[in-house]
Amino acid sequence: MNLPVLSDRTKPHNDPLVAIQLLSACRILVINGKGGSGKTTVSTNLASWLAKRGETTVLVDADPQGSASYWLASRTQELPVIFGVKIDPTSRLTRSFQWRAPKSTRWLITDAAPGLTGTALEDLIQNHDLIIVPVLPSDIDIRASAHFIGELLLTRCMRRQRRPIAVVANRVKQQANAWDRLKKFLLSLNIPYPATLRDTQHYVRAYSEGRGIADYPQQSHARDRNDWELLLCWLDAQASPSQWLDETVSEETDTDLVNAS
Ligand SMILES: Nc1ncnc2c1ncn2[C@@H]1O[C@H](COP(=O)(O)OP(=O)(O)OP(=O)(O)O)[C@@H](O)[C@H]1O
Ligand SMILES: [Mg+2]
Repeated sequence: MNLPVLSDRTKPHNDPLVAIQLLSACRILVINGKGGSGKTTVSTNLASWLAKRGETTVLVDADPQGSASYWLASRTQELPVIFGVKIDPTSRLTRSFQWRAPKSTRWLITDAAPGLTGTALEDLIQNHDLIIVPVLPSDIDIRASAHFIGELLLTRCMRRQRRPIAVVANRVKQQANAWDRLKKFLLSLNIPYPATLRDTQHYVRAYSEGRGIADYPQQSHARDRNDWELLLCWLDAQASPSQWLDETVSEETDTDLVNAS
């Protein structure tokens, strides 16, 4: 079978590839129905943070635009390794249960395509443990994102087993009326927003250099590095390897138990 893996540098030595539903990894889905909200920016930055901690990190590019793969290909050898999986939309291996990743994966981050609904959305949620929704703080984006979060919560997968969701406020400037309204909406749904990212060329430059903010040790980036701390704490609080493994197994073997939890 043709496995959707990028290149030599994308797979740890002697580590077999396994189906993602069998990984004892924390699988994070970065998604928003709205285009341009920062899915790729958040996915690539998150991957670089987790790889920098020395934990085996896989970035799945599930968007036919290929932005995450392009970023990964621009990454230079001296930076912490991130393993890449590119989902080829023309192959027959596009459903998430068909995806493969290295067995030692600790974190798997999926950069989703915009505009997913219905069964394509259900399929992605099914094989992920956590959901991150980047949102731009404009009225148009907030309305669309609120609608999307509502849609997420109503999917069959989420009603059966609610995955933790966090919102990342992206490209936030000083004016904050719309963002205040989104915060009220999120509070009413008990959805945390552990990161607020500035609108800065640091992210634009980092993407073109195959880096994340984590890969810039300079003082000039300190403020942006700090913006990720709470989100990383939130991820750590959600993810314990044994817990994820147990939940994956119980979901497959005992639906009643999952419904009860
Ligand atoms: N915090 C930020 N500051 C400045 N520019 C940003 C920031 N976040 C994202 N951008 C820029 O906004 C644009 C869209 O971001 P990105 O590609 O991450 O969004 P996306 O949701 O992945 O888009 P798509 O839906 O097309 O996949 C890019 O040009 C990116 O460099
Ligand atoms: Mg993208």
